[in-house]
Amino acid sequence: MDFHQVLNSLVADDRLHARWLNTLSMMENTGARKISAAEDKTRVDLLMLKHAAEEARHAYYLKKQIGKLPDTDCPTYEPAFLLAPTESHAYLNRLDVQVCRYLKQTVGLKGSELKYAAYLLVTYAIEVRADELYPEYQAVLNETGSKVNVRSIIVEEEGHLAEMLRQMETFFGDWKPHAGRAVAIEAALYSAWLSSLSETLRRPVAQDFPK
Ligand SMILES: [Fe+2]
Ligand SMILES: [Fe+2]
Repeated sequence: MDFHQVLNSLVADDRLHARWLNTLSMMENTGARKISAAEDKTRVDLLMLKHAAEEARHAYYLKKQIGKLPDTDCPTYEPAFLLAPTESHAYLNRLDVQVCRYLKQTVGLKGSELKYAAYLLVTYAIEVRADELYPEYQAVLNETGSKVNVRSIIVEEEGHLAEMLRQMETFFGDWKPHAGRAVAIEAALYSAWLSSLSETLRRPVAQDFPK
């Protein structure tokens, strides 16, 4: 299944759609917590605070959207309320680990520089993905006349991508090879995540998901 087919199947079934929103919310929240964890206690700037706050808002906003789907409820991020819970949890953590390994072994960074550079590359790769994923999702929501909408997230993610580009330029100078590496790492992890989602959709819904 390609991503468009996955989205169509998800949006067509409220119980799956609720879990999709909850899964995205969990991933946004993981992103927000990772940004906060990467902040320098004293030198953190306005842009990084804004970014952490907006990712946390995305987590909250997506969770609120679940209320628009009748007879659904996903109160927590426990596996029963997520889609492909293992892969969805692993996606960001693996991206972080693999980007850090690249920055340590190939670029030779360590300490606070490594932490900040990893924040830049991991976040950049996620923003590239978000700028593709949310508009595709919104298009399916429009086509199906769903009450759910993610337009406000799209606007903020576009802003984040532009901000990450500026920050990478300042930190790395020649940022493109590093960004390309991060995007390649992310693409492999995204493809594994998408396979898990497709696998989930192939199984009978009622069996996996109690109301
Ligand atoms: Fe976000
Ligand atoms: Fe973002």
